[in-house]
Amino acid sequence: MLKASVSPVVSSNYLKYLSPRSYPFLSHYHHHHQQKQYRALRTTTTTTFTFSKPPTHHPGPRTLTSSLFLQRNSKTSYITTALLLASITAAVVYQQQSQQSNMSSKLIPSNPDDVMVIRDVTPNVVTFSVPFLRFGRIPIGGRGTAVKLTNGSIALFSPVALTESAKAKIASMGNDVRYLVATDIEHHIFLSQWKSAYPGAKLVGVEGLPEKRAKAAPSDPQIGAEPFDVVFTKENKLGLKVDEDFDRDFEHEYVDGHANKELVFLYRPDRVLIQADLMFNLPAVEQYSRVPEAEKPKPGFLERFFMGLQSTEGDAKGMKRFLWYMASKPDRASFDESVRRIQGWDFDTIIPCHGETIVGGGKAVFDKVFEWHLNGKN
Ligand SMILES: [Fe+2]
Repeated sequence: MLKASVSPVVSSNYLKYLSPRSYPFLSHYHHHHQQKQYRALRTTTTTTFTFSKPPTHHPGPRTLTSSLFLQRNSKTSYITTALLLASITAAVVYQQQSQQSNMSSKLIPSNPDDVMVIRDVTPNVVTFSVPFLRFGRIPIGGRGTAVKLTNGSIALFSPVALTESAKAKIASMGNDVRYLVATDIEHHIFLSQWKSAYPGAKLVGVEGLPEKRAKAAPSDPQIGAEPFDVVFTKENKLGLKVDEDFDRDFEHEYVDGHANKELVFLYRPDRVLIQADLMFNLPAVEQYSRVPEAEKPKPGFLERFFMGLQSTEGDAKGMKRFLWYMASKPDRASFDESVRRIQGWDFDTIIPCHGETIVGGGKAVFDKVFEWHLNGKN
């Protein structure tokens, strides 16, 4: 089932990163390799993950970014951005080495059921959280979300591996899966697995994804060429409906200005915001909570630096800079419009795909992280 080689993907990711007009480090091949890298995680006693710090603390993010991002003048911004880019480049290079190391190691068979955390965030909203290493090194985790609509059907966002426990949980919710939503251009790898289990479900995604999957399908056994039922585009997004039942419960915003083409949803009845890469919230504690301590990844300097750019703690300056200079770069005006629309929604909980779910006070965190997009960057 696994692809024979990882390095071509890694190389292409690296090349994408080097291209200034393409989007580098949220371009998630990781979901594609989720199971494989989970297996790698289970073999952390090999040389693949020989980092320098113990796994139990997450010291880096705030400390690192605070010292690098304190100044406000634009000259310093350029310097810190350059530092950031250099670091991420280095991280990607390291990843190549790491992946090659993964390839050469024997990946043991494993079962994501062993580590998946299934959580009732509300009586109608359930998350499926799993470990995941970005670049094969940075523990960002992965998370799918199932929502029971008021009509009793189920919508599944950002599908992760459909494990036996996940199937049982879906069955306990009534088993009527009618919507499978790829929340951006990258969180789609497990769509086919879910679609074959729940063939009546509509596929929902963003422009470019059907073509991307059709291109990948012949060489990737995990990806089918199933047609999408709803595709958001920059042009149709304001008027597009999923269907009557879905739209009764959800607001949606297609953040076409984001490099990964994010789809963001509000489940109105429970005031829950569901999104993929628009806003991380590292460290990924829950997603690694079932991983045995000895097997947890041990982030080094570069990994902690990246994690610091994806933390909502404190003034979240690293994340603000990341969103401003990187994530919103393709079309900041459109990005800002999207953020303003989302800010107008009534939510209290935020479910990200990477890092911790925020239960209560989510709006305040959102306002802080997107301050520059809401109020302008001074
Ligand atoms: Fe992601």
